[in-house]
Amino acid sequence: MASRTVLITGCSSGIGLAAAVVLAKQPDAKFKVYATMRNTGKKEELEKAGRDCLDKTLFIRALDVNDAKTFKPVLDEIINSDGKLDILINNAGQGMLVISETAPVEGVRQVFNTNVIGLFQLTQAVIPIMKKQQSGHIINVTSVGGFMGVPYNAIYCASKFAVEGMTEGLACELMPDNIRFSLIEPGPVTTKFRENLQSASGTGLDSPDVDEDTKKRFLSMMTKIRDSYAHATQTADEIGYVILKAATDENPSLRYQTSADAERRAKSKLADPTGNNYLDIYRKVIE
Ligand SMILES: NC(=O)c1ccc[n+]([C@@H]2O[C@H](COP(=O)([O-])OP(=O)(O)OC[C@H]3O[C@@H](n4cnc5c(N)ncnc54)[C@H](OP(=O)(O)O)[C@@H]3O)[C@@H](O)[C@H]2O)c1
Repeated sequence: MASRTVLITGCSSGIGLAAAVVLAKQPDAKFKVYATMRNTGKKEELEKAGRDCLDKTLFIRALDVNDAKTFKPVLDEIINSDGKLDILINNAGQGMLVISETAPVEGVRQVFNTNVIGLFQLTQAVIPIMKKQQSGHIINVTSVGGFMGVPYNAIYCASKFAVEGMTEGLACELMPDNIRFSLIEPGPVTTKFRENLQSASGTGLDSPDVDEDTKKRFLSMMTKIRDSYAHATQTADEIGYVILKAATDENPSLRYQTSADAERRAKSKLADPTGNNYLDIYRKVIE
């Protein structure tokens, strides 16, 4: 059977890298993976992890979700060489941990540009290809923070909520064209994500405009959030296998939580339409 062609964004590290390797290593060349990154100077880690399949079922290409000019060369290559694109995995993402009143608007725009607008623009570029084929699967990596707001992550969560809403809308809109959509909703994963979010924006802790009580609350909340998730942290490979499941399910779900903990949080959200139980949890700890 012909390989299923996959395009993944954000493969220089973490979940994108792991998913690219997991898919490219499937037996019988089940998938042909175009693993993209905005800076191919960072391709060494992926080349190493996927060396057995490099240039056989794993192809590393440049694509920046914030630069639509970079989409065409990759999409043209896929269509010229494979004649189809079966799966798009929108994984590239950027976090923002910040005391919200200090969040620089430029940083807020950057998070939305990458997580929402860039993802949407690439999806727009792929929809006509999938419509023509009358088939396709678009898998968007969001987060538990895509259905639950987390303190000091308000902007990041807002961007992931946006992708959740966008995905539901598109899933209904493109149903008649046999284009499926899935959301992957991890809790915490050990990747460079934290390091990257810290370098992208200051937390506001150094700001002279923030009062001492807020700074103390921020630090204490960081510890509590870390502790509450400590038992639930996953590896990028584990998320890669959840993505594999979504890509191979005959009838893919709209949502995949990646752990029992993430599933419990999703259920508790749905069980309380008022949202008050969720606020009560934080009311008890945000001192
Ligand atoms: N780690 C977690 O705890 C966690 C939890 C839930 C959801 N997620 C989501 O999982 C996804 C992957 O994150 P990760 O944990 O694997 O973090 P990561 O190791 O920091 O990877 C993020 C990837 O996105 C890429 N990226 C950022 N901006 C981009 C752009 N404009 N165009 C193309 N690529 C871009 C990064 O490229 P550079 O190397 O060039 O920066 C990197 O390859 C994100 O959507 C994130 O929100 C992560």
